Amino acid sequence: MSKNIETHLHEKRIFKPSKEFSKQARISSMAEYKALYQESIDKPSTFWAREAKELSWQKKWTKVLNWKAPFAEWFVGGKLNVSESCLDQHLSTHRRNKAAIIWEGEPGETRTLTYLQLHREVCIFSNILLKQGIKAKDRVIIYMPMVPEAAVAMLACARIGAVHSVVFGGFSADSIADRIEDSGATAVITADGGYRRGKVVPLKDSVDAALEKQSGVKTVIVHQRTGGKIAMKKGRDVYWHEEAAQVSSVHEAKAFDSEHPLFILYTSGSTGKPKGILHSSAGYLTGAYTTCKYIFDMRDDDVYWCTADVGWITGHTYIVYGPLANGVTQVMYEGAPNYPDFGRFWDMVERHKVSIFYTAPTAIRAFIKAGDHFPEKHDLSSLRLLGTVGEPINPEAWMWYHEKIGGERCPIVDTWWQTETGAIMISPLPGVTPTIPGTATLPFFGVDAAILDENGNECGPNEGGKLVIRKPWPSMTRTIYKDKARFRKTYWKDYEGKYTAGDGAFRDRKGNFWIVGRLDDVLNVSGHRLGTAEVESALVEHNSVAEAAVVGRPHEIKGQGIVAFVTLKEGVLDSPELNQELRTHVAQAIGAIARPDEIHFAPALPKTRSGKIMRRLLKELVSSGKVSGNITTLEDVQVIEALQKSIAQAN
Ligand code: WTA
Repeated sequence: MSKNIETHLHEKRIFKPSKEFSKQARISSMAEYKALYQESIDKPSTFWAREAKELSWQKKWTKVLNWKAPFAEWFVGGKLNVSESCLDQHLSTHRRNKAAIIWEGEPGETRTLTYLQLHREVCIFSNILLKQGIKAKDRVIIYMPMVPEAAVAMLACARIGAVHSVVFGGFSADSIADRIEDSGATAVITADGGYRRGKVVPLKDSVDAALEKQSGVKTVIVHQRTGGKIAMKKGRDVYWHEEAAQVSSVHEAKAFDSEHPLFILYTSGSTGKPKGILHSSAGYLTGAYTTCKYIFDMRDDDVYWCTADVGWITGHTYIVYGPLANGVTQVMYEGAPNYPDFGRFWDMVERHKVSIFYTAPTAIRAFIKAGDHFPEKHDLSSLRLLGTVGEPINPEAWMWYHEKIGGERCPIVDTWWQTETGAIMISPLPGVTPTIPGTATLPFFGVDAAILDENGNECGPNEGGKLVIRKPWPSMTRTIYKDKARFRKTYWKDYEGKYTAGDGAFRDRKGNFWIVGRLDDVLNVSGHRLGTAEVESALVEHNSVAEAAVVGRPHEIKGQGIVAFVTLKEGVLDSPELNQELRTHVAQAIGAIARPDEIHFAPALPKTRSGKIMRRLLKELVSSGKVSGNITTLEDVQVIEALQKSIAQAN
């Protein structure tokens, strides 16, 4: 970690928001931020009650917070319907006929849904769900392309109180099956396919394959996106449009308790299968709403665009719940950033006059590589605010974003947060915070972030440690679905009553937070979390593989690439074909994002005398080709030499 700190210490460039931006921003001075921040920490109930009041409630809460670490309840006694805050509440205002979603398909067609139209679609789909016998608290898997129906499906689940679990459309049939099993889902909402890089992703086929293993699913609702040929199983599968013709478009939203579960989203941890991160209703929505309002400074005349997929937490909070609760107009895009070429995003920014743009560092690096001529061809003057999320942004990427996309006029909000935190936790406020390339700067309201050392003491300036949150916040995950023990063990065991994020970080002398990266065995590939254990278990499922160890290594575009070390079963010979086959096998088992960049066959893996794989050595080997430090605990030193040779050959 110390090397990273040194690099960051050399960063002297500081960018202050322009006077024009500050003047119009919701929070426009550091003094104002500090006063509100202090209030949010000292009197969280006062601060959050004021924010939550702006949502739509059917019954007001009696108590803002019940906190019995690590379990929080927010807005206790209150009742609301999350979809009412996102839709119904706008219908009696000037937003009724305002565009909620301007959607663009990858092939180029566009569709606009006003708040009134989106509300109607959600009501219809709510009635479809009810007709299929889906009730409050039932779990529903959503496996969709990036089409408005994905948002409609989520909002309709919320409206009837069903718990959605969105599975990213790039994940495999096995991944769907695992999530169905863990969540106990009884219904799946999917599409015949979606477009990605000019090809159809056969989503329904993957669902069919998953359901061969999972018999608990009674209903599959299929949105027709491509019109391609798919199998429809009688008694189980129905078409969305056919059902829609048979139900009413009126649906009165019933209120649910503040703590009613809203969704489960699976995310990778350092061990085992992905964890079902559970979020509840009122606190989550308050976090989503408030962060959009202050950090993205959302206004009625904005056109906002978050390029994430709804399959990730960023899509949940910053495509569906946050922007809609703010009544903003947003762009939603189905396909790849480089289809038909790397100008696609900038062409869309120009055509739709996007004013707020939120993307990931990995995308920015891919754009840099593709060349400046792509953005230069387009008029990007509508942009006024930029954001990034998902991984630490390297200063080069930050500067390019600032100059080439932001025209040196747009503040950049580098937002640190996690699936578990539900909403942005550390970020500049665009009208206030001086930004420095590479730091997410200061904590958001109500976020008591700190860096602690192994003994639980707060680290001094520029001293690396563990990033923790010391107080509960409204959008925090409530638990790991059905696994409170794992919840406690994963996030709350390091320091009593404090949330450990799993990231290493340090603060500079001004108090800015610099996130260094994961401290555990979680990889961050193109801004997406992947557990080394997941990739390893996919590898050992292959009948040629005896053992596997997976580590990350720096990758120019993806942030981290995946390197696997594999020992083969007795009698199996290594070959380039087997190497390819194993890479494909992982992609099929988990999804294309998990495909290893490199696989090294090894006679043995470096282990301690007690048989534990020494990942530290493997990490060092792949990043520098050498190992330094103590290897005396290693069982067989020759293993390292063999691996070194294999890596040298591969490069
Ligand atoms: C990383 C994504 C540095 C971090 C919203 C975290 C970041 C993990 C940033 C969560 C950032 C996210 N700077 N690192 N601005 N944002 N991360 O759950 O390691 O997919 O723990 O949530 O991404 O990933 P997740």
